[in-house]
Amino acid sequence: MKADLIVGIQWGDEGKGKIVDLLAQKYDIVCRYQGGHNAGHTIVVEGKKIALHLIPSGILNPDAVNIIGNGVVVSPEALLKEMKQFDSLEGRLYVSDKAHMILKYHELIDKAKEKLRGKNAIGTTGRGIGPAYSDKISRVGHRLGELKDVDTLLEKIVSYFDSNRAIFDVLEIKLPDIDELKNELCEYKEKLAPYLADTTEYIWEAIENNKRILLEGAQGTMLDIDHGTYPYVTSSNTIAAGACTGLGLSPRDIAKVTGIAKAYCTRVGNGPFPTEDFTDEGQKLRDQGHEYGTTTGRPRRCGWFDAVAARYACRLNGCDELSIMKLDVLDGFDKIKICVAYEYKGEKIDYVPFDLENVTPVYEEFEGWKSVEGIRKFEELPESAKRYIKVIEDLTKTKVGMVSTSPDREDTIIM
Ligand code: IMP
Repeated sequence: MKADLIVGIQWGDEGKGKIVDLLAQKYDIVCRYQGGHNAGHTIVVEGKKIALHLIPSGILNPDAVNIIGNGVVVSPEALLKEMKQFDSLEGRLYVSDKAHMILKYHELIDKAKEKLRGKNAIGTTGRGIGPAYSDKISRVGHRLGELKDVDTLLEKIVSYFDSNRAIFDVLEIKLPDIDELKNELCEYKEKLAPYLADTTEYIWEAIENNKRILLEGAQGTMLDIDHGTYPYVTSSNTIAAGACTGLGLSPRDIAKVTGIAKAYCTRVGNGPFPTEDFTDEGQKLRDQGHEYGTTTGRPRRCGWFDAVAARYACRLNGCDELSIMKLDVLDGFDKIKICVAYEYKGEKIDYVPFDLENVTPVYEEFEGWKSVEGIRKFEELPESAKRYIKVIEDLTKTKVGMVSTSPDREDTIIM
């Protein structure tokens, strides 16, 4: 059976975790295909908050197998820490032996480079994501499968340190003690051995055996390395296409694509964000939406739904459907704005230009509503909220299949 895919269509933090968690009940296998522990999915089940960074959200379904694909960059330290939250995951979690490792020096490089960039900093999560992907593309990275032979791996890492010594010096990064590093690698080898696998073969076989598979994107379309707001992006292909390279699937292996969007917009880190609202209304969105990063705790930048960017994202991902999250966060606003076009170089445009930082949003205003919190049926929504959803469908040219009205799994309208 072909795999279904969930992808963020804004700047990440759209609430994919809740949808994947909800859907994971219906799937046999849930897979991550890109990013690393920069991601943060907060899931609320029966009032309890669980934060996941690397492990797919399907882990909360005891019957689902979870896969971390080759396209993910894996910090063994972060993975082991996250695994500790659960009882044994053997047989329920497999990590691609081809996935590249994030080691401590990647994190140090990430942070040092951000410091050097000063006011031009990307605003990364400081988790070493960019440096680990850079090493992969430069063909000097280290894959998890190399843990099988720690001595050879250590030799390669030492040779990497030697050839990059000048860079480490400039960045004022202290290289690790080699004995300590060896001990660390041996620990990773021992603890991760039961989980490392050829995940591509595993998924191919699962497809042949008609298993139901869900592919879970991290971050969002506007943070895609190729199609996002470069250079203010993350270092992977966050869009649906990334699932093919990041897991070893062909485009033909993918069935339904669901785009996840918040009913408004947020972004963490720097870079263009046309609909950002700097007024009290933006602060109200932040307060009502609890918009603080799961991974870094940073306050998120908040603003209105950007239908131009959303339509672009739906096209890039081939979204069959949209899930609109956190509609209840708009409760109590008298007027709600949607960006329907951009003003760019004196013209009104309806596409995402190369230099998104130079656009001004053109808004349409809609009537607000008192409360949609906890509503589980579309018919029970206030008329203005129904209209808001219909406008999003029209502007994005994509059907809305689900609407979320509270963090709780059950408070979801299925259309
Ligand atoms: P990096 O992925 O840590 O290199 O950060 C690059 C950019 O992506 C920064 O603007 C981060 O704030 C953003 N970013 C990375 N992961 C996430 C996420 O899970 N949600 C939202 N933004 C993210």
